Amino acid sequence: MKHFLILLAVAGTMSLTSSAQDVLMENAKFHAGDNASWAGENVDESSWRDIKNSATWTSQGVKVENGFGWYRYHVRLPKSLLEKSDLKETVDFILGGIDDADETYLNGKLIGKTGRFPSDEKGYASQWSTKRCYRVPVTSNLVKWDGVNVLAVRVYNASDPGGMFEGPIRVRVPNTVDNLSISFTEAKAANGTLQGISTINSKMKATKSGVFAVKVVDPETGETLSEKSMKVSVNEKKNKAIAVPYDNHRMVRIISTFTESKSGLSITSQYIPKYILTPAAPATPRFNTPSLYGVRPGSPIHFRFGVSGDKPVKITSDDLPQGLSINPDNGALSGSLAKAGSYTFTVKAKNAKGEQLQRFTIRVGSTIALTPPMGWNSWNCWGLSVTQDKVISSAKALIEKGLADYGYSYMNIDDGWEAPERNPDGTIGVNEKFPSMKALGDWLHGEGLKFGIYSSPGDLTCGGYLGSIDHELQDAESYNSWGIDYLKYDWCGYGRKHQTEPDNHTVASYVRPYLLMERCLRQQPRDIFYSLCQYGMADVWKWGEAVDANSWRTTGDITDTWQSLYNIGFERQPELYPYAKPGHWNDPDMLIVGKVGWSDNLRDSRLTPDEQYTHISLWTLLASNMLIGCDIAQMDEFTVSLLCNNEVNAVNQDILGKQAKRDVEDGSIQIWSRPLSDGSYAVGIFNVGKTDAHVDFKKYFPQLGIKSLKSVRDLWRQQDLDTSDVTYFIPTHGVKYLKVKSEEPIGRRQSMKSEE
Ligand code: GLA
Repeated sequence: MKHFLILLAVAGTMSLTSSAQDVLMENAKFHAGDNASWAGENVDESSWRDIKNSATWTSQGVKVENGFGWYRYHVRLPKSLLEKSDLKETVDFILGGIDDADETYLNGKLIGKTGRFPSDEKGYASQWSTKRCYRVPVTSNLVKWDGVNVLAVRVYNASDPGGMFEGPIRVRVPNTVDNLSISFTEAKAANGTLQGISTINSKMKATKSGVFAVKVVDPETGETLSEKSMKVSVNEKKNKAIAVPYDNHRMVRIISTFTESKSGLSITSQYIPKYILTPAAPATPRFNTPSLYGVRPGSPIHFRFGVSGDKPVKITSDDLPQGLSINPDNGALSGSLAKAGSYTFTVKAKNAKGEQLQRFTIRVGSTIALTPPMGWNSWNCWGLSVTQDKVISSAKALIEKGLADYGYSYMNIDDGWEAPERNPDGTIGVNEKFPSMKALGDWLHGEGLKFGIYSSPGDLTCGGYLGSIDHELQDAESYNSWGIDYLKYDWCGYGRKHQTEPDNHTVASYVRPYLLMERCLRQQPRDIFYSLCQYGMADVWKWGEAVDANSWRTTGDITDTWQSLYNIGFERQPELYPYAKPGHWNDPDMLIVGKVGWSDNLRDSRLTPDEQYTHISLWTLLASNMLIGCDIAQMDEFTVSLLCNNEVNAVNQDILGKQAKRDVEDGSIQIWSRPLSDGSYAVGIFNVGKTDAHVDFKKYFPQLGIKSLKSVRDLWRQQDLDTSDVTYFIPTHGVKYLKVKSEEPIGRRQSMKSEE
């Protein structure tokens, strides 16, 4: 049996992996600018730079906005590529996404175009996320078999980031099996057990027969847990499905293979079903929010005690400081405290099964956000199509699905709420999608939740809505009147003004618009969490605290892919730990779990379950803002379990407020650690490589400074582990997330790299 092409299906999505027969191209010569002759075969490239297509040109130091850049590839295409195909119909050039539009030439001739350039008849249109596949008929003679071919890609970018980013390019002469695909769904069988349904589909009119085999495998031991196979015939009108049961509390892989009878070629798809590690919460009340909260003197308090357990739970206190009250039905604490100082009292949570007490301190002073903010933001799900109803629907689900019991409290509207024009008196208005900000704020506060909003220091936001320029104080006053508790202030349109400023090379020029809004916010009689969003420019982490920002985005926008998660989480954060502290946090952007889509079209996050465990583990280690970016109303059991693990969240909310440092980088194994207020350490052992790994934690003890291990706890499973057996199976892109106690301090040494 020959395995010609491997299709890898992850968490419901299919993605191509390389096959031996594809010709891959990753490295190009690059030139910014535009010149029609660069499409040709013979171009003097001596002054061109090297570039990769696996990441945007922006991430490789190229800055071209509203302009062009060219990539040129020289590639030998062996004739065997053609000869080995049983179809021999087309030569496919598969380019992946390109930000924003491209024209692609083969040996001087245009073979495809996606998106539109500003000079095109219908004007500019971005198709940055569209995967390009340009097909050349094998009969065209354009391809030089066994010779060197020149592929030239002309790319237009509107705003950063830009360029090719999903490389490598693949060249392929498709086979019959390339017209087949395997899809996968998770469903409940009639008896309530979970089953995976694997389906073989065809794009061809002609019927193809073969053997379809599906097996459930334990990736750790390689053991086959169950398998089924049958002879099937498929065509474009007829597919075939096989259902296999599996346990969704166990890490398994479902591997489906179709072997076509005539050619003997196969396609294989691997699916990783979502698996739940977080144990169910006890029926008795349990406090899941930290025992410390910061507020400024006299500011209104909107806080909700996060308590899990069978409902109803009554929340009360006998020694509340004067000026405060608790709604016993939802745990909403309100009121205000005029004088600076620490106020400690006991809160009781009681239900039919029992009660729990928590000592709780309100620190009244100049610092708010003593732990990172937890909540929701509309952007990663709804994008510009956010409405008041959608915010309310997610807020209700936040309460009903129990996320509010775990401390998620901010409900933040991102871009898309603003009226097209300011009111005659210069104040900002809302558009028709938001009937009443004040009513929304009042309702959220009644539930003990908080209310957030978005604007830009520029004339326009990133979405093209009105920004706050020249109206900063008026806008801050409007926010106060609506009851806003959080402002995300996004650079965007300010870039145009900044370009014209004579001192725009200075840090001061980056600080200026943020300081201006800070002064306006601080004039308001309420606490407004100040979230800077300017993608890390001018090392914002070095001055964010000085403008009294509570957090600052450290990178460009995140999206729901491993590449994005890896670049932002693992590549861009290691040096930033010294800058995070209570009240002031690095923000590597919002969460990408659950149903996301940046529009009305939502989809399941494209991250595998293991990548999602990595995402949440790393963000809690990084003391990051934990802003959910999906539609909570549609949130499934797996995503709730990811976001509502009290021991994992306790790392993020630890009151010591120290961000993790990367202590070990050893090939694809990375270990990040962060000290916690109880003297222990949160330790994430990550496998960022493409294959599963067995990792001997002990091997890294010298680098981590561990001589004697007192205890090890698996945070996701909430189980104590044996300290004498510390070899862990960590799947590709997955994590082992531990709470470790040792006689010695862990990590925090100068060396960032493996000493090997
Ligand atoms: C920028 C920000 C995003 C989002 C959009 C809204 O891209 O980085 O998080 O706020 O603007 O237009």
